[in-house]
Amino acid sequence: MEKMKIGIVGCGGIANGKHLPAIKKNGSFEILAVCDLVKERAEKAKAEYGTPETRVYTDYQELLKNEAEIEAVYVLTPNRSHSFISIDAMKAGKHVMCEKPMAKTYEEAKKMVETAKETGKILTIGYQNRYRPDSLYLKAACENGELGEVYYAKGHAIRRRAVPTWGVFLNEEEQGGGPLIDIGTHALDLTLWMMDNYEPACVMGSVFKKLGDQQNTANAWGDWDREKFTVEDSAFGFIKMKNGATIVLEASWALNSLDVDEAKTSLCGTKAGADMKDGLRINSVKYNKQVVEKPALDAAGVAFYDGEGEDAPDVEQKTFYNAVKNGGKLVVKPEQALVVTQLLEAIYESAKTGKAVYFD
Ligand SMILES: NC(=O)c1ccc[n+]([C@@H]2O[C@H](COP(=O)([O-])OP(=O)(O)OC[C@H]3O[C@@H](n4cnc5c(N)ncnc54)[C@H](O)[C@@H]3O)[C@@H](O)[C@H]2O)c1
Repeated sequence: MEKMKIGIVGCGGIANGKHLPAIKKNGSFEILAVCDLVKERAEKAKAEYGTPETRVYTDYQELLKNEAEIEAVYVLTPNRSHSFISIDAMKAGKHVMCEKPMAKTYEEAKKMVETAKETGKILTIGYQNRYRPDSLYLKAACENGELGEVYYAKGHAIRRRAVPTWGVFLNEEEQGGGPLIDIGTHALDLTLWMMDNYEPACVMGSVFKKLGDQQNTANAWGDWDREKFTVEDSAFGFIKMKNGATIVLEASWALNSLDVDEAKTSLCGTKAGADMKDGLRINSVKYNKQVVEKPALDAAGVAFYDGEGEDAPDVEQKTFYNAVKNGGKLVVKPEQALVVTQLLEAIYESAKTGKAVYFD
């Protein structure tokens, strides 16, 4: 298979935790350049995932200027820089894989979509949860009309105590928000994609910072720095679509709740419902009885050979490769990610003004 020549911008948590291992495992990529503001991080990425020829940069503009051979750039930096780095990369003739959320604001995200159209470059966003086996199965069920008309849904992004304490996650300026833009974005993306409904009518939102000032928090990653905590710790949205369908979105890094769930959706349709609470469950009525079906998503094809096994990040890389190299179908379309960003922004806006946000 012909290798895809790529450049990595941002060599932090998501680069090392998702993209670089999956790129290495895939084997069809060649990392020509790596870039990070912190040179040692770029050097480390080169040593672990690159080749002796991989070039190291601390300025992404230099990378774009010098690396004519690079076909695609991965934008794996904090949210603040997603838009301008992606736009510069597309204008320099590169396809772009940008991490979620698409951007800090709707305006920034809209410019990214416009640039993709103008340049004809592929732009996709790192919503890897779409590629999980349960998500793919549920999407197929939705597309086949098994749920009927989905008129109510819930996006789940609730943690009891798991505030990210590394990087700039608590920094409003760098990230544009807290759990809503960080993990609520995954739950909303999954929900809209399953419903295949990208036409919102209005949004009401509530945003709280109630636990951010506490100490001895039993947080998964240790106490957070209260001085640096400038974003919300919980946010909730009520979204009404143009066809009347309604979505409730819950997002929190720290909430006094036992109902924890993340990157999941629950759907209620006229023929059946579905949730991802205990594996994927599809609930319906058959032969006048209430039925819950649980697809056996882990079942191996052949008893003596399980194959290599593909995780969501592997499918994400494969999908991007096929889109760039073979004109394959893009799963996460920029226009869809744009609506996710528009709705998240509207929840923040509504919480600030105390009024609903209406879309024409
Ligand atoms: N898909 C997912 O599930 C998922 C999970 C975690 C993070 N993310 C997203 O990934 C992005 C990065 O998060 P992270 O956890 O890797 O953060 P991080 O702080 O660990 O890493 C970001 C890296 O980008 C570098 N950087 C910042 N600005 C730069 C610039 N202008 N040029 C070059 N390098 C720059 C930083 O020095 C840092 O090394 C965020 O947008 C976050 O929302 C996605």
